[in-house]
Amino acid sequence: MTDETSGTPYYTIGFSESMLQHLRRHTASTHAAHLLPHLTPGLRVLDLGCGPGSLSVGLAEAIAPGALYGVDMEPTQVDLARSIAEAGGHDNATFQVADVTGLSFDDDYFDVVHGHAILVHVRDTQAVLAEAMRVLKPGGLISMREWVLDGSFLAPDFEVTGDAWVTLAELITADDGHPNIGRDLKRHVLEAGFTDVRPTASFTSYTTAEDIGYFSHVIENWFLSADIRDSATAYGVATQQHLDNLEQALKRWMHHPGAFGAVAYGEVIARKPQG
Ligand SMILES: C[S@@+](CC[C@H](N)C(=O)[O-])C[C@H]1O[C@@H](n2cnc3c(N)ncnc32)[C@H](O)[C@@H]1O
Repeated sequence: MTDETSGTPYYTIGFSESMLQHLRRHTASTHAAHLLPHLTPGLRVLDLGCGPGSLSVGLAEAIAPGALYGVDMEPTQVDLARSIAEAGGHDNATFQVADVTGLSFDDDYFDVVHGHAILVHVRDTQAVLAEAMRVLKPGGLISMREWVLDGSFLAPDFEVTGDAWVTLAELITADDGHPNIGRDLKRHVLEAGFTDVRPTASFTSYTTAEDIGYFSHVIENWFLSADIRDSATAYGVATQQHLDNLEQALKRWMHHPGAFGAVAYGEVIARKPQG
């Protein structure tokens, strides 16, 4: 799918305001908890596919006075990340436009290379991991956290809401992405030559009335938007009738007192071999 607010092709979820609101809720403590215990002041850290930067600035805080670099292929996201860093006084955070498969940093430059929800969108997983390996110092850490859409759910399901994940996964696959790559991170980093591999898994849950209201807003204004609907029908992953049924079920879910949702993630920490 191409987004009319961007010249970037093949980025399924787009850059609409509702998606940005969703990403701005990502913080280091909620979405990089597996990495935070490994961060100490003074480290030099790279955040791959930083998006609007809310998670990146938390990493910057954890390693200050070390330097945090964020890269994203989308200039509007880099501008947003710069604004968030400036507003929060994170003067150790620098952001630049770059493709994660072709970074301009020197070899052996970073102590930590991190990515959240980036491999899911990039066709060539090993190309990203090879760049991470190149720019990491020997002994440096790679950290990734990625979707497992198959393991995500909205309950109660009404025998339909599960289809939302299937439709989203098919859209991502149609754009050459990997909607369940979170469960294969251990295999991928081993294949890339990393050692000391520690995989984990976690959910980001939507439980409180405020969470459900917020998540419903994202579903209504992003997943059920004309943009995503048009992509789904253009790619042949859903008919209008199917999407209408899904919309009804999602609305029942939003207003159900027992509504609960969770997005599943796989995580990995691994090390670049010494010398
Ligand atoms: C789902 S967002 C995640 C943003 C952030 N990491 C977070 O979790 O809040 C994915 C980001 O990756 C970026 N992206 C996708 N493919 C990329 C590539 N090949 N190189 C650099 N950035 C890319 C997109 O522009 C988008 O901002």
